Amino acid sequence: MNTAHLTIDPAFCVGPVDRRLFGSFVEHMGRCVYTGIYEPDHPSADEEGFRRDVLELVRELGVSVVRYPGGNFVSGYNWEDGIGPREDRPTRLELAWHSLETNEFGLNEFVSWARRARLETMLAVNLGTRGLDAARNLIEYCNHPKGTYWSDLRIAHGFKEPHDIKLWCLGNEMDGTWQIGHKTADEYGRVAAETAKAMRLVDPAIELVACGSSSRAMPTFGAWEATVLEHTYDYVDYISLHAYYERVDDDLDSFLASAVDMDTFIEGVAATCDHIGAKKRSAKKLRLSFDEWNVWYMTDYHNREPHDWIPSPRLIEDTFNVSDAVVVGSLLISLLRHADRVEVACQAQLANVIGPIRTEPSGPAWRQTIFYPFATVARYARGEVLRVEPRSSRYETKKYGDVPIVDAVATLDRDTGELVLFAVNRDTNKPLTLTASLRSLPAYTVHKFTVLTGEFATANTEVDPTRVRMTDSSAASVADGSLTAKLPPLSWNVLRLRPAAAMTDTH
Ligand code: AHR
Repeated sequence: MNTAHLTIDPAFCVGPVDRRLFGSFVEHMGRCVYTGIYEPDHPSADEEGFRRDVLELVRELGVSVVRYPGGNFVSGYNWEDGIGPREDRPTRLELAWHSLETNEFGLNEFVSWARRARLETMLAVNLGTRGLDAARNLIEYCNHPKGTYWSDLRIAHGFKEPHDIKLWCLGNEMDGTWQIGHKTADEYGRVAAETAKAMRLVDPAIELVACGSSSRAMPTFGAWEATVLEHTYDYVDYISLHAYYERVDDDLDSFLASAVDMDTFIEGVAATCDHIGAKKRSAKKLRLSFDEWNVWYMTDYHNREPHDWIPSPRLIEDTFNVSDAVVVGSLLISLLRHADRVEVACQAQLANVIGPIRTEPSGPAWRQTIFYPFATVARYARGEVLRVEPRSSRYETKKYGDVPIVDAVATLDRDTGELVLFAVNRDTNKPLTLTASLRSLPAYTVHKFTVLTGEFATANTEVDPTRVRMTDSSAASVADGSLTAKLPPLSWNVLRLRPAAAMTDTH
């Protein structure tokens, strides 16, 4: 029998749970926007064309902030194409994903949709084909109250109050040769610094994200961050990280350990930020924005058949299984564990395009397996993150060497008293007995234990949309200040504990 032991102690506080860790991403790519969140002819569409069935799932998912409009898309995008009367908006060749962009949905539709979904918005500016001038006009349109060309145009478009968008990305993945308008680190660093200065002149209250590497595997990783930050350190608040994980060559063991890579990536970027901060004798501590992360079967994407120029083609509509959900759970654990540095994180993307939500045009919307770890963390991770330092049985992986079978993190809400332990069991065959010392929380007892588990390839589909979901487990108890729980093989586990006196509420 595999075992794991850990200690839950409020003294091991990493930092507060920032709600912005539960972000998502809506790109004009494939069917994320069109027939994903927006489909005027759908039976559930509201008067603005937003799918109500999807809005309900977005709220259930617990998303806090949403990044828009790209992604690679933004590097060829003219934001002005998507504002004003729809009949005047141009249809354009969309070069990043080889499709047609009708511009039926644009900035104001996105802001309205996000309000309806009760989300904060995070916008990216185009530093590929455009630059400082388009960015300063965009922020004036969005955030300036009134009395100028761009702010009055927004008012004429029906938005009297400013959109007041606080979070801005200075371009997207500018280190990638695939990026339209790709730049060297020096070229990008200069443009990003000058654009940041101009945007802040329009609205000093904004927060800015500089592009870090598009993955830790990039040959320029590390050097890119250092050079970009030499230029931008004083003008930005965050640097971005992007990471996608997939099961390659049927190597499930390595895939399940993907969070090892995420941990190393975060710690490497934080160290680079601090190195540049030290060189500059800066009192400022840069924060990290992990604004694209997920499972993505990218190899399948690269082997795909080319498609014609059409609007919203079906692109990277990966169907996620149980193992993908366990990996997503462990990536969320990694993000929480680094809550002292990572303050923004966006799962990419929200609907259809590697999304936790899948839809069919004129048809249903359903939850993919990866919906559940996200929704449970967004809902129950409150208050402060606690390190728990698990010591568990280990296993050997091709990619990451020797890896613990269990990964875990806890959160403690000091207002309600709720303590939550999130844990994954990476062993695909064997259950695991987890024990946790609650030495400083002696009166705690198990309130609810829910689990997602199953055979690794099991997935939710249009015909069987609830096959994989969270289920209740009774295999956890507290005795003598120690929690014991049985984690099923290949599982995502959420253990909610409360002080005995607070046990009357059954939610
Ligand atoms: O999320 C899909 C794509 O992945 C984004 O457009 C890009 O930024 C990344 O490479």
